[in-house]
Amino acid sequence: MHHPFDPVRTMNSLTEPLHQHHKHCDELFADAEAAAAAKDWSRCKSMLERFRDEMEGHFRTEEEMLFPAFEAATGMTGGPTQMMRIEHAQMRELMGQMQAALAQTAGEAFAGAAETLLVFMQQHNMKEENILYPMCDRSLAGQAADLGPKLHEKLEAECLAAQ
Ligand SMILES: [Fe+2]
Repeated sequence: MHHPFDPVRTMNSLTEPLHQHHKHCDELFADAEAAAAAKDWSRCKSMLERFRDEMEGHFRTEEEMLFPAFEAATGMTGGPTQMMRIEHAQMRELMGQMQAALAQTAGEAFAGAAETLLVFMQQHNMKEENILYPMCDRSLAGQAADLGPKLHEKLEAECLAAQ
């Protein structure tokens, strides 16, 4: 049992920033949903944009840096990372549906897409946190001192660029 800010774990786990960022994205999603429930559509729109930008930054950090490093280290190019890339595409589609619904102030369509995305995102994040990230931490342990800070920097740069 590790505390999320356990310094030993943080030092040893190069995927820790991505793990923490899942929680941040969950909070942004909850803010957008709360605004929709209150029918505050302008707030919902801005929260959704923020959420989508952060999710996109998260996806890019994985797709452009973590996954290629894992694939190079293990030779597994058609396995779990391929599955995660497909799921990212499905979540991008759902976020697009949410934005399209919002553009028409279609509250029910928004709520439907949001509900689908929430379940999907929870399952996806669980798979990453419980299966893929530990695999990455193990197979990339030798590069962690170099790759860990790079991943953290890319994630922050992607998310700052989105604002
Ligand atoms: Fe992911």
